[in-house]
Amino acid sequence: MEQNMTSLIMIFGATGDLAKRKLFPSLYRLFERGKLSDQFAVVGVARRPLSNDEFQQSVKDSVISSLGEKNSLDQFVSHFYYQSHDVTDSNSYVALKKLADEIDAYYQLKGNRIFYLAMAPEFFGTIALHLQSDGLTDVTGYKRLVIEKPFGHDLESAKKLNQQIRTAFSEEEIYRIDHYLGKEMVRNIEVIRFANAIFEPLWNNRYISNIQITSSEILGVEERGRYYESSGALRDMLQNHMLQIVALLAMEPPINLTTDEIRSEKVRVFRSLRTIKGEKVNDYFVRGQYGPGTIEDQQVPKYRDEPMVDKESNTETFVAGKVMIDNFRWAGVPFYIRTGKRMEKKTTKIVIQFKDIPMNLYYQPEKMLNPNLLVIHIQPEEGITLHLNAKQAGGHLNAQEVKLSFSNTGTYTMNTPEGYEKLLYDCMRGDATNFTHWDEVAYSWAFVDKISEMWEKTKADFPNYSAGTMGPEAADQLLEKDGFFWWPVTDLEVDVCK
Ligand code: BG6
Repeated sequence: MEQNMTSLIMIFGATGDLAKRKLFPSLYRLFERGKLSDQFAVVGVARRPLSNDEFQQSVKDSVISSLGEKNSLDQFVSHFYYQSHDVTDSNSYVALKKLADEIDAYYQLKGNRIFYLAMAPEFFGTIALHLQSDGLTDVTGYKRLVIEKPFGHDLESAKKLNQQIRTAFSEEEIYRIDHYLGKEMVRNIEVIRFANAIFEPLWNNRYISNIQITSSEILGVEERGRYYESSGALRDMLQNHMLQIVALLAMEPPINLTTDEIRSEKVRVFRSLRTIKGEKVNDYFVRGQYGPGTIEDQQVPKYRDEPMVDKESNTETFVAGKVMIDNFRWAGVPFYIRTGKRMEKKTTKIVIQFKDIPMNLYYQPEKMLNPNLLVIHIQPEEGITLHLNAKQAGGHLNAQEVKLSFSNTGTYTMNTPEGYEKLLYDCMRGDATNFTHWDEVAYSWAFVDKISEMWEKTKADFPNYSAGTMGPEAADQLLEKDGFFWWPVTDLEVDVCK
């Protein structure tokens, strides 16, 4: 893997929320840890006119507000420049190229360029085309395009966008961000699976009865009503983050850890997803929208009363589904997934439920033996818990549940690096493993399109869950009809050892 961190990073959308909340603090952390060489520079690009000084001040403010006061901030921001820019106007790109060439010469950046599109998706294609036609991609070093979600709205629009960016960048040069792939415990899934002799032999339909993935949020749609209205939970969370987790849990062991091998194993999972379409959608998927409710003692309004949301909105703020992977390893094992806004708790967890033992020797009236569970805690706690049964202390041979826990928070004194920091670092090193390949995007849209086509045809009976709950009743029934239930996320906390 190339370790050349010398680069000019151009951030389109440099005055936006993502740049301020995630990108600047992440770059600072890389700088502070000595991961950026002195040969790096950042050009902030956005519409609004700002001087370099004003821009540097805003970068400082965003670092301070997320990381607190820092000593080397002046030195860090001295690498930042600003260019006011109209994304549709060639003159802007010509001026940007001139500035980029000057900075390149000054810092000796070897012609390496990263173009980071952290802005409204409708401009992704236009920007990529201009970068090429106005000469910004004619470089002597590497050129990479980092692109935020949403990557299209459905398969058709994603294909169109892909064609536009492929005129200027090859697939190897495109880094499609899925920030879940930057999360420490999402990256840990493959290690837990493939570095443990005790799990891999059990990781199939002979020993696993079902897998549950929950990603619940407390927040509503905030200021993003306009975007969310055309997206909904299905496109916002399921098409990308949730299906990526499914792929990591279900993929075959790669023959080695190269980007191509890992991605091609993930693609094989996407290819095995059972297509759910037409009336069948109602058997496999449930949609929800929140009504008013109470969260952490605060009254919150219903979705339809959020800013920029239609009073009659048919947009789902919750989705639960049963995903089937029709291959040899997984035939018959449901992967249940659910995600939503304004739920009871902010948490992302995976529960792997193993099959019941053939016969319970330790039967006690009224008390069933718990199945073994492996819980992977993605956030906010990070860790794993293995639920076993063992003898209750005392004379009788009564079995009770015991938990073996590992918690990242208890092990390391430092916070685990933010996902964006890892992803930026990967991109600078040229490691695209934890970014989504076009094939993954295309298969996941093809899967999701069939569900949204069906939902768009019929008006749902919304709202159907109260804010502050775990979603509509139909989401519970989805599992009940298969003889399962959602393991309550509130009971699955990892014990943090201090
Ligand atoms: C984003 C979605 O991709 O992920 C947001 O657009 C959502 O709607 C967010 O809130 C959740 O991310 P995290 O890291 O807080 O789980």
